[in-house]
Amino acid sequence: MTPKRRSVYRCAECGTDHPKWAGRCDGCGTWNALVEEIAERTGRSGGPANRRADTSGRPPVRLADVSPERMPRFGTGLAEFDFVLGGGLVPGSVVLIGGEPGIGKSTLLLQAAAHLEAAGVPTLYAAGEESVEQVRLRADRIAEDAGPVLVLPEVRVEAITAQAAAHGARVLIVDSIQTAYTDELDGAPGNVGQVRECAARLMRFAKGSGAAVFLVGHVTRGGIIAGPKTLEHVVDTVVYFEGEPSSGFRVLRATKNRFGSVDEVGVFEMTTAGLVPVANPSAAFLAGRALDTAGSAVTALMEGTRPVLVEIQALAAKAGFGTPQRVATGLEHKRLAVLLAVLERRGGFPFRDLDVFINVTGGVRLVEPASDLAVVAALVSSVTDRPLPPDALFLGEVGLGGEVRPVAGLDRRLAEAERQGFRRAFASIRGRPSSRLDIVAIAHVAELGSKLAA
Ligand code: TYD
Ligand code: MG
Repeated sequence: MTPKRRSVYRCAECGTDHPKWAGRCDGCGTWNALVEEIAERTGRSGGPANRRADTSGRPPVRLADVSPERMPRFGTGLAEFDFVLGGGLVPGSVVLIGGEPGIGKSTLLLQAAAHLEAAGVPTLYAAGEESVEQVRLRADRIAEDAGPVLVLPEVRVEAITAQAAAHGARVLIVDSIQTAYTDELDGAPGNVGQVRECAARLMRFAKGSGAAVFLVGHVTRGGIIAGPKTLEHVVDTVVYFEGEPSSGFRVLRATKNRFGSVDEVGVFEMTTAGLVPVANPSAAFLAGRALDTAGSAVTALMEGTRPVLVEIQALAAKAGFGTPQRVATGLEHKRLAVLLAVLERRGGFPFRDLDVFINVTGGVRLVEPASDLAVVAALVSSVTDRPLPPDALFLGEVGLGGEVRPVAGLDRRLAEAERQGFRRAFASIRGRPSSRLDIVAIAHVAELGSKLAA
């Protein structure tokens, strides 16, 4: 057994080393910034004798001599998952899957493990959060046969990588990185030092063995990220699994990908038999839409390279006592406040004494300003109690002056709306879009009332 290496506590702000943990850094005075790390070995590699001629590493290669052949990727069997990864799982890569507890990370990876194993790719599932019996209960629910999957109830990283190597695993799943642990550090599992060091070791394992590694990372509600944020620069690919717990839809989004494009999304539905990829998200998000209710508007979002239609619902109701409520699900509160102010001042629609509720169906979040016009139209529809035309799409960014600006990727969004049976689009346009939809040009929010009535 190798003697335990010394650890140091390094300030994340200024880099000062401390032999013991302290609440405040001696170097810069920052509180709670010390992170445990393994002290660099001195003596052995630091000695001048070793520095002289270390030829044990690999020699450099000329890029022209590297074969351009693409590495064959592993398919996870879940088309939407492969799509988000950029066309499957790259051997030797490390993929971080972040998401709130209960969103379905373990389910997704168990389904992928079952597919991989069935396809002849040896897969090891290291379960640190649950007992093997609990994993078995999940396996009984999903549609795939997870019976042949190897499950390892282990949290020590050294033991996990040793088992993975012993079983010749080509894919290793570590669920989760917050429960992973190395004896080399004194800190408890889940603290920044442990999370970082464990991830670094798993990264070395991936690069050394060519196995692909999935790391599960929990994200707390409200976007405060305990472990995963510190890992994002270490791993090759970061995907987040999101969704409103109340809705069955789950959106998988790549925010970093060394082997594919970012911001691609995959849509799944959580069913009683695990996650099912949704091939036509627009149809799924619009299913069950009440066509003759006031306050509902449809817009097209660009999710990566794919346009997706979503419904925005607004409800404006007479407020009780005190400050009117503003409740938005799927839309930033600040954006809602801006749009309400613009409607009031530039459009002449009074919202001051009304409670306002906004909901985006399917648990989707509106991040693009391109959906502004749809939010505004839904609000106007609700406050005037007049349903919007059910076959109409709304596209436009709303400025502080009330002006409506054109959106990027207009043609692709219109094409998707056409595919879903829409007939017209209210939009700010520049030039002539190549679409068969009837375009109703809107240049200012004040035009909404009359153009909708026409
Ligand atoms: P889980 O994968 O355990 O989430 P995470 O690993 O991200 O914490 O999924 C938890 C939820 O999914 C749980 O509330 C039960 C639900 N679920 C289903 O609805 N159907 C299923 O087939 C499975 C396996 C889980
Ligand atoms: Mg889990």
